[in-house]
Amino acid sequence: MATFTVKNSLIAVILALILAGATPGIMVKAQCVNSCEQPNECCSQYGYCGEGPEFCGANCRGGPCTNNGVSIADIVTPEFFNGILNQGSSCVGRNFYSREAFLDALTSFTRFARSGSVKDSRREIAAFFAHASHETERFCHIEETDGAKKDYCNETVTEYPCAPGKGYYGRGPLQLSWNYNYGPAGLELGFDGLGAPETVANDPVIAFKAALWFWTKNVAAAISQGFGATIEAINPMECGGGEPRKVQSRIDYFTGYCNQLGVTPGGSLNC
Ligand SMILES: *[C@@H]1O[C@H](CO)[C@@H](O)[C@H](O)[C@H]1NC(C)=O
Repeated sequence: MATFTVKNSLIAVILALILAGATPGIMVKAQCVNSCEQPNECCSQYGYCGEGPEFCGANCRGGPCTNNGVSIADIVTPEFFNGILNQGSSCVGRNFYSREAFLDALTSFTRFARSGSVKDSRREIAAFFAHASHETERFCHIEETDGAKKDYCNETVTEYPCAPGKGYYGRGPLQLSWNYNYGPAGLELGFDGLGAPETVANDPVIAFKAALWFWTKNVAAAISQGFGATIEAINPMECGGGEPRKVQSRIDYFTGYCNQLGVTPGGSLNC
């Protein structure tokens, strides 16, 4: 029995050597722990440097990863999430928004905050929650509170016609607004965005999905240029001295959350 195993192992080793010799490409790839010398190369989940999805995809260890495999749930802990949640007695949002709803919504956005390094992930999470905190006063509001809720119907966007009597004002963590956002968000997330925009204010998972949809489509790419670029992506009117108090509020949340999550906020915070 013992000799049989040894013989088998020997064959396996010989086979492995022959295979390795037949595929020299694998042998010349630099090995890595979590980074590579070439800036365009990723350290793959198996510890080799290279380009493309095989290296930069699932569980990539470092470099320009497209999926670094971080666990968002481990970063957005109950302490982190509940620490944001405004407990004010007039806050309708405190019984609506929850970490569970956020994590549930996240299953449809597997690439959220998973590109680049683990620090990039933490910074993107801090940015997302900074904007959500500013938009909703720390998850206090579900809907826009500005006195007269406008309809936010842009009739020139005929692809997404407004339904009579419906308002496309801010709802959810990033206060999704306008018919041209409700329309495509509904189509992609599986709800009637134009006919029933109130769904975003009634279903906490849809509320987070709508925010993550907007983030992924319009904001996420900007963060590589600094937090200021994400403000510009969300509300350009605030930038260039338009609304300095609002800009500062977003920056204050961001630097606070970066601090909590153990990353530096990086440069270009303002816009
Ligand atoms: C309405 O949509 C048109 C076409 O996309 C755009 O040019 C215009 O600026 C929009 N108006 C508002 C108020 O958003």
